[in-house]
Amino acid sequence: MNSNPGLREIITDHIATSPQKRITFAQFMDLALYHPQLGYYSTKAVNLGKQGDFFTSIHLGADFGELLAVQFAQMWEILGRPVPFSLVEMGAGQGLLALDILKYIQQEYPDFFNALDYLIVEKSLALKQEQQQRLQEFSVRWFNLEEIPSHSITGCFFSNELVDAMPVHQFVLQQGKLWEIYVTTLEGEANEADEADKADKADEKVITSPIELVSFVEIPGTPSTSKLVEYFDFVGINISDFPDNYRSEINLAALDWLSMVADRLQRGYLLTIDYGYPANRYYNPRRSQGTLQCYYHHQRHNDPYINIGQQDITAHVDFTALERWGERCGLDKVGFTEQALFLMALGLGERIAGLSYTQQPISQLLRRRDMLHQLLDPLGLGGFGVLVQGKRLTTQEAAQPLKGLSVPEQIKI
Ligand SMILES: C[S@@+](CC[C@H](N)C(=O)[O-])C[C@H]1O[C@@H](n2cnc3c(N)ncnc32)[C@H](O)[C@@H]1O
Repeated sequence: MNSNPGLREIITDHIATSPQKRITFAQFMDLALYHPQLGYYSTKAVNLGKQGDFFTSIHLGADFGELLAVQFAQMWEILGRPVPFSLVEMGAGQGLLALDILKYIQQEYPDFFNALDYLIVEKSLALKQEQQQRLQEFSVRWFNLEEIPSHSITGCFFSNELVDAMPVHQFVLQQGKLWEIYVTTLEGEANEADEADKADKADEKVITSPIELVSFVEIPGTPSTSKLVEYFDFVGINISDFPDNYRSEINLAALDWLSMVADRLQRGYLLTIDYGYPANRYYNPRRSQGTLQCYYHHQRHNDPYINIGQQDITAHVDFTALERWGERCGLDKVGFTEQALFLMALGLGERIAGLSYTQQPISQLLRRRDMLHQLLDPLGLGGFGVLVQGKRLTTQEAAQPLKGLSVPEQIKI
């Protein structure tokens, strides 16, 4: 175990001062990832990239950002070249994607660049500072979503691997009834063990912090909000036949986030890239343990109660929920595809084909080809979902197919 002891203590205090001495799993995950001082994303523990805990499409070269830039440039054209056109990146990590996008737009689309207003919404102060450092040469502005005035954005909100990082509620089913999973502490056994251990080792003067020995345990209870039970009607899933002990998670934070984005968007698009499924694949009796995963030094496991504050915790995205909630908030579905198809339609195929003509050492060439193929891997990043939603598009604008949602030339029959 390699948890941050201070964070364990904070979570233990939260539990001790909560009405029933328990917190929801979503509260636990929020503290573990986003406690302002000690959460995974708030400290130097956050370690993204090829050598870190996990990597994303962004760490495979500038191509991902550059192809997104191609899509944004077309959106700008479709909307009639508005000035400004705001690009709002949400959850910008180290700022690498922003850098790739901005550099490419500056180089390839100077008119678009002049119209561009680039905003970042970032929850982690540590990452915001890293982004500010990295993006000094560009005029980028940082906001909380709450600070952006309603109906003020014409352009595109977008995110890559943001929604999977939002705190989720967990539940378990018993005889078709939904019980929420709460987190509490089990101090008794740990402290007894501690006492016995201390007696044995008295001569060695071993000092063990009791807080390190507090175990977090899960207990099922009545849902903290009726939204959890209502969720399944909303996404069209009948859970009454699901087997006992079926367990999964629900991302209510994503719905609140979507409401807020829809409110801030005056006209334009929302582009969401993440791993996930439509609800009927997500909530399937055969996937009986949900999708929660933890990443620690490139190892994937499913125990969120170890390495607290030192590891990432994620859950897949229910794209049906984003589509349906979006419709309630005035966001119409423009299209849904997989990342591999999206990037191919934007020109990744040509980039791969062009590789053999470039004058570079064979080792570099193979490395780059491998990175581009990883973006397309159907079992990995290529299988990610890409959801585009639109707001207040005129009939003419809505009728113009987005490049990324068109069928890539390479697979047209
Ligand atoms: C998994 S990382 C992805 C980073 C980057 N987009 C990438 O693909 O490499 C999630 C990012 O979202 C940020 N984040 C999480 N919840 C957020 C929220 N509600 N609002 C803004 N940023 C958030 C995290 O701090 C982090 O920068």
